[in-house]
Amino acid sequence: MGMLSSLKKVENLEGKKVILRVDVNVPVIDGEISEGADWRIRAILPTLNYLSGAGAKIIMIAHFGRPKGRDMNFSLYPVFSRLKELWHKDKIFFSTDVIGKETEDKILHLKEGEVLLLENLRFHKEEESNEEGFSKTLASYGDIFVNDAFAASHRAHASIVGLPKFLKSYAGFLLEKEVSMLGMVRAKPRHPLVLIMGGAKTDTKLKLVKDFLNKSEAILLGGILANTVLYAKGFGVGKSLVEEKLLVEAKKINNISNIFLPTDVSVTESLERVKNPAVRKIKDIKPEEFVVDIGPETILSFKEIIKKAKMIVWNGPVGYIELSEFRKGSLEIAKAVVENSGEKIIGGGDLIGFLSEQGLINEMTYVSTGGGAMLEFLAGDELPGIKVLESQSY
Ligand code: 3PG
Repeated sequence: MGMLSSLKKVENLEGKKVILRVDVNVPVIDGEISEGADWRIRAILPTLNYLSGAGAKIIMIAHFGRPKGRDMNFSLYPVFSRLKELWHKDKIFFSTDVIGKETEDKILHLKEGEVLLLENLRFHKEEESNEEGFSKTLASYGDIFVNDAFAASHRAHASIVGLPKFLKSYAGFLLEKEVSMLGMVRAKPRHPLVLIMGGAKTDTKLKLVKDFLNKSEAILLGGILANTVLYAKGFGVGKSLVEEKLLVEAKKINNISNIFLPTDVSVTESLERVKNPAVRKIKDIKPEEFVVDIGPETILSFKEIIKKAKMIVWNGPVGYIELSEFRKGSLEIAKAVVENSGEKIIGGGDLIGFLSEQGLINEMTYVSTGGGAMLEFLAGDELPGIKVLESQSY
């Protein structure tokens, strides 16, 4: 790994136009971002305060969701509103597009210490296809580039890897902190090391599981990943989601001794009309049932393993926590993690939201803002956004 050039290295920020890439991809419900759901927004405040305090003119860029073209359901305006509440409301402005006259005029009128947030980068397909012309236009708005979007640095998009081709580029404080904290987990894990993996987005997770097979003493699986491995082992998992494209890989890990799968689960026949979920041994799951949580026997055995850990890495809840009836497993696991006095490293939007709601998030040693980025980084991958910053060491 090369060295990251810290934002601290930039001399005389006064009056400099800084393009600041952030990741503020947070849950928005009915156009609002609730307290607790705004964790990724709060995490960029140190960089924002530093730049603003030093008199920079900040052009903030970000993506939100996965829109297909300009779709106002994916506007960054709710993030702008939340930022106004969290920061100096008289110093932050919004442009309704990314590039064009409105943005150019507003940048022209930006005073030192002020911020202009541009609309969702992904309204332009050139962002994800990493089109050079798009990066060039974005670059023309600033004097230097700062990447503080660790959570998006696994994406080779224009605002992540394209911009540094045209501007001197630096790492923001959040990105630096993530690289140093997660780098420590990667380089100096404490043992016994226990990995807990749940939730959706299984492909990046399976990759991390494979990487941790030789590094950790135990890997506890819940959620869709557990269903997929159980299915690959020949168990029926009813109507539960199974990641078909991972079945071949899942078969390869189904008999490895440090992988722990649920031995019993909670099931329901309908995700809409929820009654008290029934508990089944995994061999007894019926074709019409959904697996929605780990069962009591699994909770106990997982808790015993967690007790012995010196380091715990947890990404993704172990049940379908969208409905309160199915949160028991994740809550019991969370309590066991909190009771453990070792290091507890947490990541993934749904899990962070859940732990915040339960008032347990401050009990964790480190909470990463990265979802997929954290998984890829821990699996040892070189993230394109970090690689390009490292290639520009000053
Ligand atoms: C995330 O939510 O993990 C990041 O913002 C990246 O989002 P993406 O998976 O849509 O690229």
